[in-house]
Amino acid sequence: MGKAAETVVLAVNGQRYEAAGVDPSTTLLEFLRTQTPVRGPKLGCGEGGCGACVILVSKYDPATDEVTEFSASSCLTLLCSVDRCSVTTSEGIGNTRDGYHPVQQRLSGFHASQCGFCTPGMCMSIFSALVKAEKAANRPAPPAGFSKLTASEAERAVSGNLCRCTGYRPIVDACKSFAADVDLEDLGLNCFWKKGDEPADVSKLPGYNTGAVCTFPEFLKSEIKSSLQQANGAPVAVNDVGWYHPKSIEELHRLFDSNWFHESSVKIVASNTGSGVYKEHDLYDRYIDIKGIPELSVINRNSKGIELGSVVSISKAIEVLSDGNMVFRKIANHLNKVASPFVRNTATIGGNIIMAQRLPFASDIATVLLAAGSTVTIQVASKRLCLTLEEFLQQPPCDSRTLLLSIFIPDWGSDGITFETFRAAPRPFGNAVSYVNSAFLARTSVDEASGEHLIDDICLAFGAYGVDHAIRARKVEDYLKGKSVSSSVILEAVRLLKNTVSPSEGATHPEYRISLAVSFLFSFVSSLANSSSASAKIDTPIGSYTNGTTNGSTEYSLEKHLKVDSNDLPIRSRQEMVFTEEYKPVGKPIKKVGAELQASGEAVYVDDIPAPKDCLYGAFIYSTHPHAHVKGIKFKSSLASQKVVTVITAKDIPSGGENVGSGFLMLGDGDEVLFADPVAEFAGQNIGVVIAETQKYAYMAAKQAVIEYSTESLQPPILTIEDAIQHNSYFQTPPFLAPKPVGDYNKGMSEADHKILSAEVKLESQYYFYMETQVALAIPDEDNCITIYSSTQIPELTQSVVARCLGIPCHNVRVITRRVGGGFGGKAMKGIHVACACAVAAFKLRHPVRMYVDRKTDMIITGGRHPMKAKYSVGFKSDGKITALHLDLGLNAGIALDLSPLIPAHTIGTLKKYNWGALAFDIKVCKTNLSSKSTMRAPGDVQGSFIAEAIIEHVASALSVDTNTIRRKNLHDFESLAVFYGESAGEASTYSLVSMFDNLASSPDYQRRAAMVEHFNSSNKWKKHGISCVPITYEVQLRPTPGKVSIMNDGSIAVEVGGVEIGQGLWTKVKQTAAFGLGHLCPDGGECLLDKVRIVQADTLSMIQGGFTGGSTTSETSCEAVRQSCAALVERLKPFKESLEAKAGTVEWSALIAQASIASVNLSAQAYWTPDPTFKSYLNYGAAISEVEVDVLTGATTILRSDLVYDCGQSLNPAVDLGQVEGAFVQGVGFFTNEEYATNSDGMVIHDGTWTYKIPTVDTIPKQFNVQLINSAPDKKRVLSSKASGEPPLLLASSVHCAMREAIRAARKEFSVCTGPANSAMTFQMDVPATMPVVKELCGLDVVERYLESVSAAGPTTAKA
Ligand SMILES: Cc1cc2nc3c(=O)[nH]c(=O)nc-3n(C[C@H](O)[C@H](O)[C@H](O)COP(=O)(O)OP(=O)(O)OC[C@H]3O[C@@H](n4cnc5c(N)ncnc54)[C@H](O)[C@@H]3O)c2cc1C
Ligand code: FES
Ligand code: FES
Repeated sequence: MGKAAETVVLAVNGQRYEAAGVDPSTTLLEFLRTQTPVRGPKLGCGEGGCGACVILVSKYDPATDEVTEFSASSCLTLLCSVDRCSVTTSEGIGNTRDGYHPVQQRLSGFHASQCGFCTPGMCMSIFSALVKAEKAANRPAPPAGFSKLTASEAERAVSGNLCRCTGYRPIVDACKSFAADVDLEDLGLNCFWKKGDEPADVSKLPGYNTGAVCTFPEFLKSEIKSSLQQANGAPVAVNDVGWYHPKSIEELHRLFDSNWFHESSVKIVASNTGSGVYKEHDLYDRYIDIKGIPELSVINRNSKGIELGSVVSISKAIEVLSDGNMVFRKIANHLNKVASPFVRNTATIGGNIIMAQRLPFASDIATVLLAAGSTVTIQVASKRLCLTLEEFLQQPPCDSRTLLLSIFIPDWGSDGITFETFRAAPRPFGNAVSYVNSAFLARTSVDEASGEHLIDDICLAFGAYGVDHAIRARKVEDYLKGKSVSSSVILEAVRLLKNTVSPSEGATHPEYRISLAVSFLFSFVSSLANSSSASAKIDTPIGSYTNGTTNGSTEYSLEKHLKVDSNDLPIRSRQEMVFTEEYKPVGKPIKKVGAELQASGEAVYVDDIPAPKDCLYGAFIYSTHPHAHVKGIKFKSSLASQKVVTVITAKDIPSGGENVGSGFLMLGDGDEVLFADPVAEFAGQNIGVVIAETQKYAYMAAKQAVIEYSTESLQPPILTIEDAIQHNSYFQTPPFLAPKPVGDYNKGMSEADHKILSAEVKLESQYYFYMETQVALAIPDEDNCITIYSSTQIPELTQSVVARCLGIPCHNVRVITRRVGGGFGGKAMKGIHVACACAVAAFKLRHPVRMYVDRKTDMIITGGRHPMKAKYSVGFKSDGKITALHLDLGLNAGIALDLSPLIPAHTIGTLKKYNWGALAFDIKVCKTNLSSKSTMRAPGDVQGSFIAEAIIEHVASALSVDTNTIRRKNLHDFESLAVFYGESAGEASTYSLVSMFDNLASSPDYQRRAAMVEHFNSSNKWKKHGISCVPITYEVQLRPTPGKVSIMNDGSIAVEVGGVEIGQGLWTKVKQTAAFGLGHLCPDGGECLLDKVRIVQADTLSMIQGGFTGGSTTSETSCEAVRQSCAALVERLKPFKESLEAKAGTVEWSALIAQASIASVNLSAQAYWTPDPTFKSYLNYGAAISEVEVDVLTGATTILRSDLVYDCGQSLNPAVDLGQVEGAFVQGVGFFTNEEYATNSDGMVIHDGTWTYKIPTVDTIPKQFNVQLINSAPDKKRVLSSKASGEPPLLLASSVHCAMREAIRAARKEFSVCTGPANSAMTFQMDVPATMPVVKELCGLDVVERYLESVSAAGPTTAKA
C-alpha cells in the first residue's frame, strides 16, 4: 500500500489547505479536483500534452522575500512537490462572486470559448504569460490598459494548449489584446467594438491592471518564515513516510542505503514530467524528490562555459543560454521548441538527459548538447565522475542510484564557429516530438595557400530517428575534416551518413527519417560552402532562400519576401459578415451563453459534479486481441491491483436486461454489445469495468489486468476493406437510406474522349479528440430508478439503451446532460456504452458510480471516422467536361452497424457537388474486427467532397490544364443541380455556389496570387508554394425537435430544448430566439428579455423526444421549436396585456407576468416542431482558397493563408457561426494533414494519446485566416432564413490538401520526381492524411542526392543550381 506523505501545506487561490496522510502519488490535479472546490483545471490527457490542467504555481523565497510564478501542468505535478507553494487556478483569478478577470472577459468577448473545456487552461496560460512579461527586466512600461507582453509572445503563450473547437484564431486575438505592440484594429470580431463601424480602443476592453491578483498570500509567507526558523538544518528523517525531500547528496545516500529502497516501488523525481512520456503502470510506494539538493540547482557561468545543475528547468536554461554567445543562443532557441511553456517551466534538463540515457527517448536536449561538446558530472555511490555526454549516453542504462549532478556546455566563442540545430516534427512549436533532430558544430578556417575555406573540425549529432539515444556521425565527421566543401564532398558525406543513420526495427517511416537526416546535413554543410567559397555556390536552404508569403495584401511583391521562417509569421485575420436586424435580437453577434463561466472554470461538466457519498469509480478493461474467446481476467500482483473493489462484466447485467451498449433500431437491427461475451470481436472491445475507490486507482488497476484468450475454432480477424471484400463481410444499407445513381453511366462513358480507369485514393480514420473524454455518473435511486449524468449528444437514445440494458422501463431512467466538453459525433453512440457500464455497476453495487474514461482508453475504444478506399473510373471530353463517373467505394465500418448506414448517402451527397454527367457507384459498408466507426463531424461528407476533388485534379493533370478550369467546367448549373439533388436543390435563386466560386477563383486577386506562386516556385528550390480554390455543397436534413418555454412569476424565463449544448452555441441561439419570440410583448422587440432567459440542462424525463444533437441543424430546429412555444405564449398573453393596458396604460414585462400568474394564465408552452414535408432538407454552399508552403527537404507544410467564403443564410448569430466555420475548418485541416489514427497489425489503436496523435495547435493554423459569411438568398422556408454552420465548413479544409498537391507538383517538376503508379511528375495520388512523411515521399526522398549529383556532374565551380 502507498505510504502516506507527511502533511503538505499549500494555498489554493489564497485559501490554506493542509493535506495530511496523502498518497504520495497524488497529483496536484487530483488533489485540486477531489479535495478542494476547484474545478477549473481539467483532466484532458494526463500526460502534459493538452494544457487543460494548467495552473499557476508561485514559490516564495524567504531569503529574498521574492515570489516567482510559473505555469505548470497540474496533471504531472505531484502534490507533495508543491508543499509551501501557492497555486492559482482560473477560479482564483476571477469568478462569478468576485468578478471576472480581464483574461476571462476578453476570451468571452472575442468569442474564444465554445465547449469551454479548454478555456480555464487557456486562461491560465495567458495569465502566466502576462505575469512573466510583467516581471521581465528592461521592458518599458506599457501604455495604459496594455501589458508588457509582446504580440509574438501572446501568440506563443497558448502554444501547448489544445482546443478542438475554436480553431484558435479568436483565442490568439484575446491574448494579443493585452500586447502593447498590437494594433487593435487587426483583432477580430468581438463584443467590445463594432468592427468597421467603431474605432478599436483599449478603453473599450475590460481593463487590465498588473498585480490585481495576489498570487502568494501573506499567511503562507509567514508560515514559511517561521517553519524555516524551526527546521533550521534538521536532516531528512528516514522514516516510514512516502515522500522524502533530501537536502544534500549525503542525505540522499542515506535514503539509498536504507533497507526499504527498492527500485520498483521507490521513484526518484525531479519534476515528474517524465511520467507524461513514459506512463506509469503501477503505483509507487515512496518518492524521493531531489529538487531540494542545492548542488543540483547551480548555474555557473565563466569564460569556459556554462554549468547547469541537473534540476534547472528547461525554461530557466533557456533564460540563461539566451544571454550567451551564438552557440548558447541557438541551443536556447531549440529548447524553446521542446514540449510547451507549462512543461518547460518545471521539466528539468537533468530529467531529460537521464531519460535519454536510460530509455529509447527522442530527446532534443541530448542531441543539441551532444553537438555542443557538453560534459556531465554524475555521482555513482560515493564516486563523482565527469564524462562527455557522448560517453554517458553510450554507457549501459544507469541504475536508479546514479545521480546526474550537472551539465557543462563549453563556450565556443564565435571565431570560425558555425552551429545549427534542426528538428522536424508534426508541429513546429506546439508540443511535438521530432521525427529526427540534429545539431551540428563546425570550425572553419581559410587555407592561406589556396584561399579556400576548410572544415577544421566538425561535430554532427543526430537523434530521435529510431535510435536509443543521440549519436555522433563519426565517420562523416572524419570524412569532412580538412575538406573544403563542394557538392561532391557533400554527396559523399550524404552517402556515408546513410550508412550511419539507421532507424531501429519498428521505427515508423524509416526511409523518411533517413532522408531528414540527409536534408539536415545538406542544409548545414552547404551553408558552410556558401560562407566559405564564393566560387562554389550551392543552392542551400539556410540563409540563401527566401520564403516569403503573399500574406494578406494587395501590395504583395516578391521583394517583400521576408528572410524569416514562415512558421514565425504572425497570425492575421479578417472577418466579413452581414448583420441583419429583421429578427433582433436574433442575428446579433452576442457572446456565448456562459462563456465567462466556462473561462473561470465554474461551468459544471459531468466530472465536475461533486462526488455523491460512497461514489465508486470505474475504468474499462478492453481486449487487446481482435478475435478471441475471453477465458478469464486476472490481475498482476501489484500495488495498483490491490485497489480493485470488484470487476463488472456481462455476467452482472441484471436479469431481464440485455448486453447492449448501443443500437439505433431505425437504421437496422445492429446493436453493439456492452461487454465482450464470450468472444472479444476486436482489439479495444470492452470486457469489463474495474471498480475502485478513486478514479486514479481504477485507471491504474485496469492497467494491471491480464486477460486470458483462446482463438480456438475462431476465424482469423477481418481488419481491412480488402479482407472484408474477400470474405463478403458487409452491412446492408436500408433502401430508404441508399443514395441513388444519376443517368446512364455506360452512355456517359461512350461519350468521353478520355478515360481514367480504376484509379485509387484512400482516406484514413480520424479521432474526435473532444477535450473532455467520455464520462458518465450513475446514481441509483428508489424503486429501480436511476439517474445518469452523461456527456452525451443523444440523451434520449442513451435513456432507452440504458433501460434495455438494465431491463427496466424508460421512465425509470433519467439522463441529464448540462453541457458536453466537445462532441463532434463521438459523444453519440460510444457515449452510451459508458453510461450503460456505469448504470450496470451502480445497479449491482447500489453505489453511485462514475467513469471518466482516460484519454488512451477513449482513443482505443471510440472508433472515429470511417476509413475509405475509393476506386474510380471517369470519362471526360477534351475540354474537361466530365461525362461519367463510376465509384467503387469501400468503407470500413468496424464491428457494429452503429450509424454506418448513413455514411453512403452522405459521401455521395457531397461528391455530387460536380456534374459528373452520369454517376454510378457500388458502395460496400464493410464489417471488420475493428472498433465500430461512428459519425464524426461531416461524416462521409468530408470524404465524398475530397474524393470529388481527387478525381477533378486527376482529370486536370491528365489534360495538363489548370485544376480550377476543370472545377468550373463541371460545377452544376441549377438544372443539373436539381437532377442530382432533387428537392434539396430548393429554389434556383438560392444556388449561390457558382457565383461564390467565380468571385474567388476568377478574381484578379486570385490570378495575381497564382502568378506569385509560380514566380516563387521558379526562384526557390527547397520551398514550394501551392494555391487552390475548392467549392463545397452540403445537404442537411431537418428533424423534428421539441422545445419548451416557461415564464416564472418574476418574469425570468426557463427554456428547455431537445438539443444539447456541445459547444456549438445552441443555447446562445435559443436564448436569442426566446427573447425574439416573446419580444412581441415588449416594445424593444425582446432585447430586454435576453438577460432573463436561462436554458436548462437536457433531462429526458422533462423533455421527451429530444432526438439527436448532430447533423448541423439541431440549433435551428431547437430555435424553431422555441419560437413556436413563444408564439403560443404570446397568443395567450397578448390579449391579457391589451386588456391590462386598456385599464392601466403601458405594462412592463415583469408586471405583465406577475398579473398573468395571478390570473392563472398558463405560462408554460411546449412545441414539437416537425419540418414541412415539402422542405425537409436544403443545400449549403461554400468555397475556400488556401495557399501553402511546402518544405521540400522535410515535408513540412505551412498554411500561409486561407480565405473561406461560406453562405450562412441569415445568420442566427454571426459570432457563433463564424466560430463554427473556423473551428470546423481547422478540424478539417487536422484530418487532411496531420492526424494519423494509426493501428497495429491487430487493428489496435496505437496512436493513443497527445504524444502520437497531433491535432492542430495555434502554430499550425493559417498564418492569415480570412472568413466571409454571406447571405446569398433569403429563403423563408428555412428557420428564420438561416443556414447550418456546424459541419459543412469542415469540407473547405480540402483546399489545403489541394494546395499542398500543387506545391508538391512544383517540387516534383523541379527535381523530375516520377514516383507512383502513373510514373509521372505531374500525376500522383495523395491520400489522406498527407502527413510530413507522405509529403516528403511525394516530393522525393532523394532530392538532395539528385540535386548534388546534378551539380557535381556540372563541375565543381558551376554548382549553383
Ligand atoms: C508533453 C511533453 C512534451 C515533451 N516534449 C519533449 C520534446 O519535444 N523534446 C524533448 O527532448 N523532451 C520532451 N519532453 C521531455 C521533457 O523534457 C522531460 O519530461 C523532462 O525534461 C524531464 O524532467 P523532469 O524533471 O520532469 O524529470 P522526472 O520526470 O522527474 O524524471 C525523469 C527520470 O529521470 C530521473 N531523474 C531526474 N533527474 C535526475 C537526476 N538529476 N539524476 C538521476 N536521475 C534523475 C527520474 O528518476 C526519472 O526516472 C516532453 C515532456 C512532456 C511531458
Ligand atoms: S491534462 Fe494535463 S496537460 Fe492534459
Ligand atoms: S472550446 Fe476549446 S476545446 Fe472546446
